[in-house]
Amino acid sequence: MTPEAASTRAREICLLAPVVPVLVVHDVSTAAPLAQALVAGGLPALEVTLRTPAALEVIREMAQVQGGVVGAGTLLTPADVEAAKEAGATFGVSPGATDVLLDACEANDLPLLPGTATSSEAMRLLERGYTVQKFFPAEANGGAPALKAIGAPLPQISFCPTGGVSLKNAPDYLKLPNTLCVGGSWVAPGDLVKSGDWAGIETLAREAVAKLG
Ligand code: 3PG
Repeated sequence: MTPEAASTRAREICLLAPVVPVLVVHDVSTAAPLAQALVAGGLPALEVTLRTPAALEVIREMAQVQGGVVGAGTLLTPADVEAAKEAGATFGVSPGATDVLLDACEANDLPLLPGTATSSEAMRLLERGYTVQKFFPAEANGGAPALKAIGAPLPQISFCPTGGVSLKNAPDYLKLPNTLCVGGSWVAPGDLVKSGDWAGIETLAREAVAKLG
């Protein structure tokens, strides 16, 4: 897959809903009900971070959930890319980008939303053909004002800001012309996942769609 094709697909995924939930899931038995709650609440694109031992099994379970579009986050290595793809991930997300990682995603036909924090990083990705990028860590990097400023000279790049984004500050990003959606963990808080409060998570998803959609 070319970087251009990857960006086309990343754009489509980012435009499915205003928020891509960032999920850190420890218990595979919570995977299906968690994904069902988020999809039912209007958030179909899900990023499962490869930060727990259960993550690949979680992707496998979530990939079966009707209406879900399941991706793997925190992709760092070619082995991550291959494992994520094999588990059923249909897109990838990374906190940054290396040539090795980009090569692996392209070779494995896994559309990637590559992370960037500076103009030079964004330009390097653009040079390679990636026009849809993750701005990370968004709030720590200066938040919406920083992303707005980056957009002035680089309007051809669209972003999914992630990291410190909340229901409160998401509108500041989403009103920028270079922001397609935001990523965030607030719609699936660890305590609600642990207690199996799927109705509560569906309510958070609905609230995000209602306020940000
Ligand atoms: C992460 O690093 O887990 C993601 O960027 C999500 O960040 P958040 O928990 O601040 O939404």
